[in-house]
Amino acid sequence: MTVKLVLATHNAKKVPEMRAILADAGVAAEVLALDAFPGAPEVPETEATFVGNARLKARAIAAHTGLPAVADDSGLSVDELRGMPGVLSARWAGRFGAGDQDRANLDLVLDQLADTPQERRGAQFVCAAVLVMPDGTERVAEGVLPGHLVGERRGENGFGYDPVFVPEGESRTTAELSPEEKNAISHRGIAFRALAMELADLI
Ligand code: IMP
Repeated sequence: MTVKLVLATHNAKKVPEMRAILADAGVAAEVLALDAFPGAPEVPETEATFVGNARLKARAIAAHTGLPAVADDSGLSVDELRGMPGVLSARWAGRFGAGDQDRANLDLVLDQLADTPQERRGAQFVCAAVLVMPDGTERVAEGVLPGHLVGERRGENGFGYDPVFVPEGESRTTAELSPEEKNAISHRGIAFRALAMELADLI
């Protein structure tokens, strides 16, 4: 039996990633993006944690669609900034990023770390993913990708802070990795793979 699963995102890149992960896990699921549900609510990310925000979105979309729903929330946690931007990663540069938000956010973090020596440039990408079933059953998974930030952009792939983030054990930034290489180690890949196993148990 093929189960339908809604991924609570408008980000076109996350859907094929989740499809591939479910296929690898042997879970027969049809993954639908939010675009398939034009009346779906836009859920503001008002919580202080990644898990809290992911849970808000997954609950709202499961309630709206009557289908199992997965939502994720992710961001960059910089040691020198005491874990920030964290849940504020997407809007770290505030209204100043009106033209190109990703560029403005990254420029601001680079400026903030301009005088920070190499040994204090540690950072992590963090992802929380929440699965909500139609009967209200919930599962939570988290993924962390540890690394450090370099001082200048490198690479064209990915999005957000990828051009300055080098994973532990790598010399390339995540913007220099292929999508497949990044998915194999990424915070989102880890969290989605854990939820795929949970879904397999629940259906
Ligand atoms: P969201 O989880 O899609 O809301 O992403 C939040 C923000 O965190 C993004 O806008 C990016 O700035 C940052 N972020 C999350 N994951 C990544 C990643 O894999 N690479 C680069 N930036 C990321």
